[in-house]
Amino acid sequence: MEEAHLKIFRGDRDSGAFQDYAVPLHEGMVVLDAIHFVQAHQATDLACRWNCKAGRCGSCSAEVNGKPKLMCMTRMDQFPAGTPITVAPMKAFPVIKDLVCDVSWNYEVNKRIPPFNPRPPEADGTWRMHQFDIDRVQEFRKCIECFLCQDVCHVLRDHDKKDSFAGPRFLVRMASLEMHPLDVTSRTAYIKDQGGIGYCNITKCCTEVCPESIHITDNAIIPLKERVVDDFYDPVRRLVRWLTGQQ
Ligand code: SF4
Ligand code: SF4
Ligand code: FES
Repeated sequence: MEEAHLKIFRGDRDSGAFQDYAVPLHEGMVVLDAIHFVQAHQATDLACRWNCKAGRCGSCSAEVNGKPKLMCMTRMDQFPAGTPITVAPMKAFPVIKDLVCDVSWNYEVNKRIPPFNPRPPEADGTWRMHQFDIDRVQEFRKCIECFLCQDVCHVLRDHDKKDSFAGPRFLVRMASLEMHPLDVTSRTAYIKDQGGIGYCNITKCCTEVCPESIHITDNAIIPLKERVVDDFYDPVRRLVRWLTGQQ
């Protein structure tokens, strides 16, 4: 039977190395199947996180041949036969063990975002929204929190700006709130200061890796940047704010 040669990272946040494993190939096999084979037959202590094996839970994120991927959605037959396939944990987050990272920083960022704040209901006790306003934010609700976009973003990955930049996943969430047709909170100051949107230089790497094909830069980040510019850098609005004493 044909075999694939995997180089899997084994270790923790202090030390580690790639180790070689040979795995028999089957039709339709994905990288997560190969990892499970190694776990079952060669390294029962190999740590990896997964849940749905269907691209829905966002748990199995890793770097396959250096590219951020969901292991359960990455077919083995796309790699040239005979060349080793490397599987490593996401680089932007601390490794706990082998392929499992500590992604808890993301949950802390999420908790700090000003929450949904709907306007009061209309006289009949309900709300009305235009379908085109709903359509605009619907895309953002597809996020499965795989954090592949966070992993690839150079601001977090290479510059480790976790203290001052929320990252693309949470700019998407801020966009979903900011553009929600019922929400009345303005988050532009938050997006500019705590969100650190100015760090994003629109490389679009986050959009390229998103397994849900969310147009992160075009539909979330760029419109948020425009709102921040309108609110804080438009000279007329600055003059009005100065004259009225607004922040
Ligand atoms: S477009 Fe912005 S948020 Fe996305 S990867 Fe590039 S710098 Fe990061
Ligand atoms: S925006 Fe896309 S890449 Fe980022 S966490 Fe959500 S699903 Fe994953
Ligand atoms: S195991 Fe759920 S997305 Fe891969």
